[in-house]
Amino acid sequence: MLRFLCLLILTTAFANRATFDNYQVHRVVPENQEQLNILKDLEDDPNGLSFWVGPSRIQKAVDIMIPPHMLPRFNDILASINLKSEVYIGNVQHLIDTERPKVRPTVDFGWTDYYTLDEIYAWLDFLNETYPGVVTPIVGGESYEGRQIHGVKVSHRAGNPSVVLEGGIHAREWISPATVTYILNKLLTSQDPVMQDLVQSFDYYVFPVVNPDGYVYTHTTDRTWRKTRSLSNNLCYGADPNRNWDFHWKEAGASSSPCSDSYAGESPFSEIETRSLGRYLDDISDNLVGYLDFHSYSQLLMFPYGHTHEHVSNYDELLAVGLDAAAALALNNGTHYDVGSIYDAIYPASGGSIDWVRGVLDTPYTYVWELRDTGRYGFLLPASQIIDTAEETLNSAVVILQHAKGRLRGSKNNEVQDIARP
Ligand SMILES: *[C@@H]1O[C@H](CO)[C@@H](O)[C@H](O)[C@H]1NC(C)=O
Ligand SMILES: *[C@@H]1O[C@H](CO)[C@@H](O)[C@H](O)[C@H]1NC(C)=O
Ligand SMILES: [Zn+2]
Repeated sequence: MLRFLCLLILTTAFANRATFDNYQVHRVVPENQEQLNILKDLEDDPNGLSFWVGPSRIQKAVDIMIPPHMLPRFNDILASINLKSEVYIGNVQHLIDTERPKVRPTVDFGWTDYYTLDEIYAWLDFLNETYPGVVTPIVGGESYEGRQIHGVKVSHRAGNPSVVLEGGIHAREWISPATVTYILNKLLTSQDPVMQDLVQSFDYYVFPVVNPDGYVYTHTTDRTWRKTRSLSNNLCYGADPNRNWDFHWKEAGASSSPCSDSYAGESPFSEIETRSLGRYLDDISDNLVGYLDFHSYSQLLMFPYGHTHEHVSNYDELLAVGLDAAAALALNNGTHYDVGSIYDAIYPASGGSIDWVRGVLDTPYTYVWELRDTGRYGFLLPASQIIDTAEETLNSAVVILQHAKGRLRGSKNNEVQDIARP
């Protein structure tokens, strides 16, 4: 009887899960304004297409997932604007089926697989129990479906300057929470003197999954979900939580269309996830010197701003440190990252968390990674690449943290921040 029940539950779970058999991901590179405009119209009214990398500017690649029944129509549209596409992923479901190990290795939490929200939260509880006096559980906010945004604070010394690690704001970017938890583990366990020095020098506020509803949804229902799961009075769920922060909201690179994957939301901070997390960050902002945010994919290391080409006051410093960080990242496996401001390196995009942290809280060292890869797997990066990805990313984060520490050395926090801050 029990066995039958289990079977029933399993079947139901699978029955509700979206499948992507023969869905393809095509890359197109718009070469003129007309082509770009058509792609932007499609993104606003996607009708079953899913933009993995949205249209931004001429010559910038756009990745689009196409259901098999829409391929003929999609090809017609491309032909009508004389645009060629290249197939980057031939069958999305195949990558979903092979993304994770067939059998999970016995190690409970070993970064050889992707973990569910419950597993990640249980691991945070485990850290709290394992490192009393160093690790404290924190709640950064709430979600639309009533979950909490769990995190931990790692602190060896009262009054340290602090750094936030943010992961999982876009639900389908699974490598992000995996990398954030990996770095958190290294902060607590590494025997490397450089790491031990960095963990003594800052307080770390670590939130591996700041969009918990979306993340759960990618595990239970739709692996390709990006947004929150809020529903107002229209037919499309969710807003893009990284277009929803209250700083130059919706000025560029964000959509007014609720069905778009880059929908900015009804108003700035319309999403409870960003609103509550923003309030939390505001509360800890006095000592905040760094904000490290992890996304995928594209292999980019970026800093503010996204809404304007105008440079932040320490642009030269952020660029130089970013280039050093990217060089450190490449040492292990030769992974190449481009570095620049969001606006320059990727595309105009307003309402992102790091822009708000920089623009409103005045935090000097804010960076965002677009992790592996460059599109052959996209969001479906095999779990076998988690450790290499996280290791190289940690190497780049170390360069940034060491630089921040150097700038802070020798004076009291407040004075220091006056030096470092624009
Ligand atoms: C964290 O650990 C302390 C004991 O060190 C315990 O009292 C507390 O309930 C734990 N909190 C969570 C969220 O597990
Ligand atoms: C990446 O670099 C790490 C560290 O040097 C190494 O252990 C690993 O084997 C490399 N991965 C690949 C796929 O070459
Ligand atoms: Zn993202």
